[in-house]
Amino acid sequence: MNILETERLLLRHFVREDLPELYALYSDPVVRRFFPEGTLSLDETGEELEWFLGGHPRHPELGLWATIYKPTAQFIGRCGLLPWTIDGVFEVEIAYMLAQAWWGQGLATEAALGIREYAYETLNLSRLICLIDAGNQASIRVATKIGMQFEKTGFDDKGPYVLYSVQRPTVK
Ligand SMILES: CC(C)(COP(=O)(O)OP(=O)(O)OC[C@H]1O[C@@H](n2cnc3c(N)ncnc32)[C@H](O)[C@@H]1OP(=O)(O)O)[C@@H](O)C(=O)NCCC(=O)NCCS
Repeated sequence: MNILETERLLLRHFVREDLPELYALYSDPVVRRFFPEGTLSLDETGEELEWFLGGHPRHPELGLWATIYKPTAQFIGRCGLLPWTIDGVFEVEIAYMLAQAWWGQGLATEAALGIREYAYETLNLSRLICLIDAGNQASIRVATKIGMQFEKTGFDDKGPYVLYSVQRPTVK
């Protein structure tokens, strides 16, 4: 199922045929540098793919989605919306991860902007966050480019993070 489109990108639910490309992404130590669990094995990647096939099992409107470069129909990464409970509060995070070959072309920013609009307009969410390793400058830059601001630092089972957030503007 297709979720959303931007000028260059299509975001859709995973299909089982995405496994080789998703594994190539998740087994790259540079891509996974800021993820405490590190690279994933083929089995672990397969488990995650299955988990997200129809959207997040507990929140099917959210999830990680295959990110396709429309001009060539290539799988270039996975982006999406993830549910968390932080300090007892339900939060929705914009997530983005692209294969290295596609970095530096504004594609993560384009995906994140598309996801932000989808979250506001289709899902009617008014607040979005990003949980980022403090050293992940590229991710912080993407977050700020889509209007997020630093809110607080925190600590979870994966270690310390910085939390960026953005609020949907109120229509007057
Ligand atoms: C984070 C990530 C998605 C960015 O993808 P991208 O497509 O290269 O991002 P964009 O091209 O949209 O660039 C966004 C901005 O970040 C900047 N940027 C990119 N890499 C950077 C780096 N290493 N250090 C500082 N800024 C950087 C870009 O210059 C750009 O800013 P600008 O427009 O002012 O020049 C990509 O690096 C990635 O997949 N990383 C691994 C997964 C990850 O860490 N995800 C985030 C988890 S919170």
